[in-house]
Amino acid sequence: MTRNDTAGEREQSRVPRHIAIILDGNGRWAKKRGLPRTAGHAAGAETFRKIALYCRDIGVDYLTVYAFSTENWKRPTEEVKTIMRLLDKYLHEAIETMERDGMKMRIFGDVSGLSPQLQALAHTADEIADHVDGFQANICLNYGGRDEIVHAARRYAEDLAAGKVSGELTEESFSRYLYSAGIPDPDLMIRPGGEQRLSNFLLWQCAYAEFYFTDVLWPDFTTEELDKAIAVFRSRDRRYGGVK
Ligand code: FPP
Repeated sequence: MTRNDTAGEREQSRVPRHIAIILDGNGRWAKKRGLPRTAGHAAGAETFRKIALYCRDIGVDYLTVYAFSTENWKRPTEEVKTIMRLLDKYLHEAIETMERDGMKMRIFGDVSGLSPQLQALAHTADEIADHVDGFQANICLNYGGRDEIVHAARRYAEDLAAGKVSGELTEESFSRYLYSAGIPDPDLMIRPGGEQRLSNFLLWQCAYAEFYFTDVLWPDFTTEELDKAIAVFRSRDRRYGGVK
């Protein structure tokens, strides 16, 4: 086998290190079945569980999902309550099983806008995640990409005024103030549900992500669908602005 074959083979079997997914289509999935929208969110949360476990098993290091945006508070109160209850349930479960399953969970977003109970769960999840190695699922909750950047800029300005940082601000030093501090940018961004836009998700981090859009509604998204997205990702030529 030549060196090139080896490199080619490596390219063929490449698994994205970090996958980001916009969980979209729960409401339409429920409507098609004559169910309330909240049933779509419950089904979507189960799909998240399946896909997260699959990502862990195939060697993805990070999965970041968009579960609730800074704009989603405009939804009917009952729907917001259901989503928060689901997040509470899945965070509780994650906290109990993270160490056993080698799978950690973190919340990205403006946690201060969440209920005290969810804030406490997010804090506990962080404490466990700090000492557990392995696959990491990040749930974006009360999250907005622009909000994240403004939040980071404010924190940087505070540190500068307090003399905690000095020297030139670089992309690398700025990114330490983002919710995603310390983790690599997503390689692959997937949006199910038929829309083809970013909707204020990971604006900074997706600078060089490959995008994959599908009409499949999130609760119907399967491990086979994820394999398809990864196959498309592998066929892309990532040049990062350079030439090959
Ligand atoms: C978008 O679909 C989905 C949401 C705003 C909520 C996603 C939340 C969950 C799946 C529940 C908890 C998640 C985890 C990770 C445990 P939509 O309601 O906008 O669908 P539509 O476009 O069909 O109306």
